[in-house]
Amino acid sequence: TRRVRVTDLHAAKERGEKWAMLTSYDQYTAGIFDGAGIPVLLVGDSAANNVYGYETTVTITAEELLPLVRAVVRSTKRALVVADLPFGSYEEGPAQALRTAVRFMKEGGCHAVKLEGGRRVAEQIAAITGAGIPVMAHIGFTPQSEHAIGGYRVQGRGDAAADVLADARAVAEAGAFSVVLEMVPGEVAKHVTHELRIPTIGIGAGPETDAQVLVWQDMAGLRAGKAPRFVKRYADLADVLTDATKRYAEEVRDGAFPAAEHTF
Ligand code: KIV
Ligand code: NA
Repeated sequence: TRRVRVTDLHAAKERGEKWAMLTSYDQYTAGIFDGAGIPVLLVGDSAANNVYGYETTVTITAEELLPLVRAVVRSTKRALVVADLPFGSYEEGPAQALRTAVRFMKEGGCHAVKLEGGRRVAEQIAAITGAGIPVMAHIGFTPQSEHAIGGYRVQGRGDAAADVLADARAVAEAGAFSVVLEMVPGEVAKHVTHELRIPTIGIGAGPETDAQVLVWQDMAGLRAGKAPRFVKRYADLADVLTDATKRYAEEVRDGAFPAAEHTF
């Protein structure tokens, strides 16, 4: 087995083959998803919410994200591992963005980086790809800007579709190897997907993108509470784990665990 490369993803688009991407932040899930054939894993800055318990992705730092990137890279054989650049680590301009991307490649060992924004970060994308580092772009709803956007809102409705399209063209032109479309109308995602030669990866963007991505805890039902509309739960890990935890505690209390076979 060899690592998936960006050229494999471009070939998949030409063949009309769809693929699934997941987030991962640790050894066990990385190994399981890699073994299950997920070709691209994202160490998302959503680790802010899903690992560190922050309210938004804005506060997570490179120091918090990098150890998770290393864990996922070490625990996979085949997946192309993409790392998110945290908020504040690329907005100042191309030089800062390139410095951060190089840091993630060297200290994280990832195979590509992702950053948020369209036209406004085209220079950053060009600088990073110009140094030989693949960049995944991320447009539509961009969580790092949620305070400016005014919450989790669908982007590109009505006349705003032209903005999403302009952003998509700008990131492709700047050299991005793929682009995440988050929370945009299905029709807009379809249009962008047909227009671009690079793969589009949808989350809340309908069925017509070249690939899909979900946060793994959402996909597997580990996160308790109401999930966004675009999430589908393929398991109920929160229930499974709650049940296991209660039975373990109960068996310790009543003396059923440990039994003779667990004892030296
Ligand atoms: O950080 C993240 O999880 C993401 C994906 C959902 C695209 O950026
Ligand atoms: Na992210």
